Amino acid sequence: MHKGKLAVAQAAAELVQPDTILGVGSGSTVNLFIEALAARNIKLEGAVASSEASAKLLQQHGFDVLDLNMTGGLDLYIDGADEVNKEMHLIKGGGGALTREKIVAAASKHFICIVDNSKQVDVLGEFPLPVEVIPMARSYVAREIVKLGADPEFREAPRTDNGNQILDCVGFKIIDALTMENTINNIVGVVTVGLFAARPADQLLVGYEDGRVESSSR
Ligand code: 5RP
Repeated sequence: MHKGKLAVAQAAAELVQPDTILGVGSGSTVNLFIEALAARNIKLEGAVASSEASAKLLQQHGFDVLDLNMTGGLDLYIDGADEVNKEMHLIKGGGGALTREKIVAAASKHFICIVDNSKQVDVLGEFPLPVEVIPMARSYVAREIVKLGADPEFREAPRTDNGNQILDCVGFKIIDALTMENTINNIVGVVTVGLFAARPADQLLVGYEDGRVESSSR
């Protein structure tokens, strides 16, 4: 495991205020973050999780998991990413939780993205772009993605938490992330594209192998 993941997870845990409702993302970095949060013995009013897996881990550590419909807007969301560029636009969804991640990010005032430095790129797209689709639209969406210049690969994985499927789109070089996000979102049958440009991160924490963590804000 990249040591920067643990460093950044621990640094993020220090930023969480007690007695708040926290938005919590998904993935291996976030799992370390949840563990670091529990190790701090911090008392939260509750957490809104972006996946069933994160909800389970939060509950195992004694945190109350709340329904976003009952909490209203959140002050803070903390989540990882598969790629991040200088504008803090992200590719997310390697773990398949992109739709709920986008919802919680949208509902949050401040979004801190936590990554190890291997995730920083100049141009998004080396990591295959995940697109969550309604199952019956899978082939149609795949053909539309081909027209946009990428090669969609069906992810052989259990359905997402929302009962849908994922196409991993290989070969995009994403210069204008906002336009690409809107274009793919407008294909009928797409639930969510894992590009976060309309709602980018507000703050980026980057962890390095030597344990250093750098923070920057938009
Ligand atoms: C899950 C995600 C994750 O944030 C992303 O895949 C990064 O995961 P990891 O922290 O395991 O590298 O978007 O859908």
